[in-house]
Amino acid sequence: MADEKIYCVDDDEDILKLYQVILKQEGYAVTEISSGEKALEQIYQKNPDLIILDEKMSDFSGMEICARVRDDKTLPYIPIIMVTGINSREGKIKSLERGIDDYILKPFDHEELLAKVQVMLRIKRLYNDLLKTRQDLLKAERMAAVGQLAAAMAHEIRNPLSIISASVQYIKNKKTIQDDHREMMATILRKISEIDGIIRELLVMARPIKLKSDIIDLNVCLQNVSGFIREKCLAHGVNLHFKFEQDLARVRGDEEHLQRTFLNVLLNALDSMPGGGELYISTRQADKDTVCVEIKDTGEGIGKEDIEHLFEPFFSRKISGSGLGLFMVKMIIDELKGDIKVDSTPHQGTTFNIFLPGSKDKICLKPREAIADTKNIRKGSER
Ligand SMILES: Nc1ncnc2c1ncn2[C@@H]1O[C@H](COP(=O)(O)OP(=O)(O)O)[C@@H](O)[C@H]1O
Ligand SMILES: [Mg+2]
Repeated sequence: MADEKIYCVDDDEDILKLYQVILKQEGYAVTEISSGEKALEQIYQKNPDLIILDEKMSDFSGMEICARVRDDKTLPYIPIIMVTGINSREGKIKSLERGIDDYILKPFDHEELLAKVQVMLRIKRLYNDLLKTRQDLLKAERMAAVGQLAAAMAHEIRNPLSIISASVQYIKNKKTIQDDHREMMATILRKISEIDGIIRELLVMARPIKLKSDIIDLNVCLQNVSGFIREKCLAHGVNLHFKFEQDLARVRGDEEHLQRTFLNVLLNALDSMPGGGELYISTRQADKDTVCVEIKDTGEGIGKEDIEHLFEPFFSRKISGSGLGLFMVKMIIDELKGDIKVDSTPHQGTTFNIFLPGSKDKICLKPREAIADTKNIRKGSER
C-alpha cells in the first residue's frame, strides 16, 4: 500500500491538509498539489496510482485536467475521483461519461473517501496485473515466433554448411597446400563447427518439447551434471561446493532436459569466472510443494539492464555465444510448471534459483555418496 501514490489536487490548503490527515493515517503516500498546472506537470513526471481532483480550481477545472489525462495515450490508466460541491444528476453523468471514475460530494465523509480510495486502488492494481499479463503474453508469442523461424532457417543452413565443411576438409588435407593456408582452413572448420553447435541447439528447441515424466532425484541429477564440468572447473581454477538437502522431494520431469537445464546454468557460471572463483550448487525444500536448486557463482555478475533480457532468444554478451542457453532453460522450466529467479551484483556474482514442483515421494541421498563426490572435486567444501 505504501508504494501507491495518491495525488490530491485542490487550491484550498485546508482541504489538502484534511486529505493528508485522513489518507496518511491509513498508510497511503499522499502528495498535495495546490493548482491544476502543477498537477499536470507532476502527473506526467511521476504517474500516480490515483488522483483526487477538485472540480473547480482557479486555473484549470477538474474536467479539463481529466480530459488531458484521458486524451494522452502515453499515460497509463490512472483512476480519478472528482470532488464536487454541486450535487447535480446531469453533472455527475457528464463527468462519468468524460472519464471520471467516481466522485465525492463536499463536505465529504471520511469513511466514504477511504472506501472509494480503496476501490479505485484495487481497480488500478487489477489494471496493472492485466497490463503485465498482456506484455508477458506478447513477449512469449514473440519468443515462440523467433524460435520457429530460427529453427526453419537452421534446417536450410545445415546442408550447405556440411558441403562447405567437407570441401574445406578436402583442401586442407591436400599435400600441396601451404602451411599458413592449412591453418586458415583449420580456423574455418572450427568456426563451421561453432555454427553447427548453434544450429543443433536451435533444432533441439524447435522439436516440440515432449517431456518424459520420470521421477527424478535432483541431488543425483546434479551430481551427474557436475561430472560434466569437473575438468573445466579444474582448468579454470573454480572450486565446486555442494550442499544437498537430504530429505528432498523428488520432481517429475525429463532427466535429459533437466540435465541440459542445469548444465546451461553451470556453464554460464563458469564462463563468468575466467580467472577462477567459487561455484556453489545446493538443493533445498523451498516449501512443502516446491523444491529449489540454487546455483551461485562469484563471477562478473550481470548488469541491471541485461537482467530482463536474459531469457530472450539470441541474447548474449559473449563473442561466440548463441544466446540460446537460458532461452532453452526457461522453456523447459515453464514446461515443468516451475520458475527461475536471478539475483546478480556486477563484479560480485550471480545466483540462479530454479524452483520445481515436488512430487509426493521423498528421497534420501546416501550421505556417503554426497561426501565422496564433494571430496573428488578439488578443495570443494560444504557451504
Ligand atoms: N552466471 C552468469 N554470470 C554472468 N552472466 C551471465 C550468467 N549467466 C548468464 N549470463 C549472461 O546471459 C547471457 C545469455 O546466456 P545464454 O542464454 O546461456 O547464452 P550464451 O551463454 O550463449 O551467451 C550470457 O551471454 C551472459 O552475458
Ligand atoms: Mg550459455
